[in-house]
Amino acid sequence: MRILVTGGLGFIGSNFIRYMLQTSPEIRIINLDLQTYAGNPENLKDVSGDKRYFWVRGDISDPAIARQAMAGCEAVVHFAAESHVDRSILDPGPFLKTNVLGTQVLLDAARAEKVKRFIHVSTDEVYGSISGRRRSSEKDPLFPNSPYAASKAASDHLARAAFITHGLPVIITRASNNFGPYQYPEKALPLMITNFLENKPYPLYGDGLNVRDWLYVKDHVAAIAYVLKHGEVGGIYNIGGDTSLKNKELVSCVRKIMGISPSLVASVPDRLGHDRRYALNDSKLRKLGFKFAHPFEKALFETIEWYKTHESWWRPLKKSDGYAAYYQKQYEKGTVPFSEIR
Ligand code: NAD
Ligand code: DAU
Repeated sequence: MRILVTGGLGFIGSNFIRYMLQTSPEIRIINLDLQTYAGNPENLKDVSGDKRYFWVRGDISDPAIARQAMAGCEAVVHFAAESHVDRSILDPGPFLKTNVLGTQVLLDAARAEKVKRFIHVSTDEVYGSISGRRRSSEKDPLFPNSPYAASKAASDHLARAAFITHGLPVIITRASNNFGPYQYPEKALPLMITNFLENKPYPLYGDGLNVRDWLYVKDHVAAIAYVLKHGEVGGIYNIGGDTSLKNKELVSCVRKIMGISPSLVASVPDRLGHDRRYALNDSKLRKLGFKFAHPFEKALFETIEWYKTHESWWRPLKKSDGYAAYYQKQYEKGTVPFSEIR
């Protein structure tokens, strides 16, 4: 089977490509990735010589490139996106272009190329902040709160519309917070681990009581591969982590494993519009037969080990000027000097 993966140089896409190459000997993978700040060829260095894998550098919102890359593919697995909430608050433009327009361009190309499966990879953030002990199920309405979440919700609607209007065989997956190897060190967990390794404070937003459900990326990519094979066309599948933690609790787990003092946790002003809690009901995926394989504690331990042993991967990313400049604004009113955090 020949498949198009979009955004395969990013965190989850690269883990997905590696998983598919390991588990599907007959697979051929075209990876369409623009190599934005988050796209890193180093993420797939170990498989770059594999003849079953080919990277096309290009923008998903370019219709000609999208069609060219998709030609002859049976399936599309669409990861490419602007993915960081904080960046979407500072500058939503790229989120609209890639996440909304880019997704529509791919859906149109998939229709023209008559692909047999289009997996649209989405997020629990589209359901918005969930109160009490509730968990979002696939039939819940969407109430996105950040520009990132709104752009993903728009792309979910477009994907569903392509199924209803044109019969395009779309399946939507919505996952909770991923963690694991190759995650760009702007996201909470890799930022926390690498800051601790550098003996720098981790900036904890607001009161630290926001709840996220943590999903190991290796379970996420296995679930996507499972849905690609067994999912019902037109269906939506939540992929949860079953590990709900307040941000404070997560920091505590990491501190304990790494032997870090509480003084390296710095309270900073809250993220604007910070969603209090996400939680997914993923019984539909479990009923389909998918089994999660990675318990949280072991996966967290392995992830910390990975960042400890891959300094040459993350150090250059943290040093890049663009990265630092982007966040400076966010911390200039904070309680901690920016230079100590990043
Ligand atoms: P990422 O930011 O690590 O990677 C995104 C990739 O997309 C990069 O390789 C980048 O170069 C590429 N890209 C961006 N714009 C592009 C464009 N216009 N054309 C081609 N390529 C482009 O993201 P991630 O964390 O791996 O997330 C992947 C997908 O999974 C996203 O759709 C995201 O919304 C979704 N998701 C992420 C999480 C999470 O916790 N990280 C959870 C649920 C869902
Ligand atoms: O829920 C799935 C989503 O998870 C994905 O769709 C997004 O692409 C992904 O970025 C992630 O979004 P979050 O905003 O939940 O993740 P982030 O890692 O940015 O933050 C996790 C929590 O930690 C959140 O409550 C904000 C908080 N945080 C984050 C950072 C970067 C801090 O307290 N300090 C920080 O420096």
